[in-house]
Amino acid sequence: MKARNWLMGVGLAMLAACTDSNSGTTSGQFDVDKVLAYCDTQVRRTLDELSRGDEGTDYTMMPRNIPDSTSHWYCSKATKEEWCAGFWPGILWYDYEYTKDPVIKAEAERFTDALESISHITPAYDHDLGFLMFCSYGNGYRLTHNEAYREVILRSADALAELFNPKAGTILSWPRNVEMLGGHNTIMDNMINLEMLFWASKNGGDKNLYDIAVSHADTTMKYHFRPDYTSYHVAVYDSVTGHFIKGMTHQGYSDSSMWARGQAWAIYGYTVVYRETQDPKYLDFVQRVTDVYLKRLPDDYIPYWDFDDPAIPYAPRDASAACVVASALLELSGYVSPEKGSTYREAALRMLESLSSDKYQCGKQKPAFLLHSTGHYPNGSEIDASIIYADYYYIEALLRLKRGI
Ligand code: GLY
Repeated sequence: MKARNWLMGVGLAMLAACTDSNSGTTSGQFDVDKVLAYCDTQVRRTLDELSRGDEGTDYTMMPRNIPDSTSHWYCSKATKEEWCAGFWPGILWYDYEYTKDPVIKAEAERFTDALESISHITPAYDHDLGFLMFCSYGNGYRLTHNEAYREVILRSADALAELFNPKAGTILSWPRNVEMLGGHNTIMDNMINLEMLFWASKNGGDKNLYDIAVSHADTTMKYHFRPDYTSYHVAVYDSVTGHFIKGMTHQGYSDSSMWARGQAWAIYGYTVVYRETQDPKYLDFVQRVTDVYLKRLPDDYIPYWDFDDPAIPYAPRDASAACVVASALLELSGYVSPEKGSTYREAALRMLESLSSDKYQCGKQKPAFLLHSTGHYPNGSEIDASIIYADYYYIEALLRLKRGI
């Protein structure tokens, strides 16, 4: 067994320096440095857990979840099929951004490198390339300007663009499910992958990537939402003509329900689309998509996994959706009117305060940051669990709050 307790000592020393050198890091009653220090402790606990065993750390195995009944990470192999494999490297990059600790940076680099081969796979396995490669390499490039990372992102963006169907106007999410779902399918989660296309188009990639992202956003805006601005999880289009066939769910309660994380992806995704295009139609739209979500939140601002589950208030929560929305709202609050901006910022703070309470933080129980996320309720998987993407968007939101975005 390889001891890693020294990691903790080094981390705390770096953190003290980090906290001392920053002002304005407490937002109202919410002490963002204290919470980021908690995240750093949990990161080091996780690294310690991953390094156990005769072989030491296997950098191809990524923490994915901690089920309610256990207190150790279930890890999965970093392959093209594992859509969550980029979140742990991304968390390490964020923790490095906060601590500036070279030990964390070295770990971030090693886990990030484990994904490199995925960027060579063509045609792309599915749309999750954005999650996989931009949370990891995207953050890595942002912090290091490592040229090799840029190449990986550009290659991944080109592979993702191969899934674009110009007739439908969107990127195909699940090539393997075309037959089962009755056509070209696009899921709301796919909105998150657009950020990598926008980035690539500005950083040496094909300019057409920008047009693909905009087409995807426009088509999704047209067909993927109901008149009340709640979203379907899945939209199906005729693969040949591109005509919209139907909206349906996959991970939500029903075809007509508001699945919390789907709506969260929409809020985050259209915030990014507005940032990248500056087109006011997206700003108007994202506020409508956000307001219908905020209006129906329970008192602690953490949604039930689906807003329309009849089991509410006994249904499980989805802390991951709250993390995604908190992060998005901190950005969006800077784009809207001052009045709306205060509403969104206040809502984001309430989400982060709840998430940072004993009810939602793992504390000493487990090495993840947060409890109570729900992955795939209809499948019976990852219900009321710690899930890696909740932690990713939580630390992202905390850093946005600390930096003032
Ligand atoms: N992309 C799948 C999910 O949000 O669970």
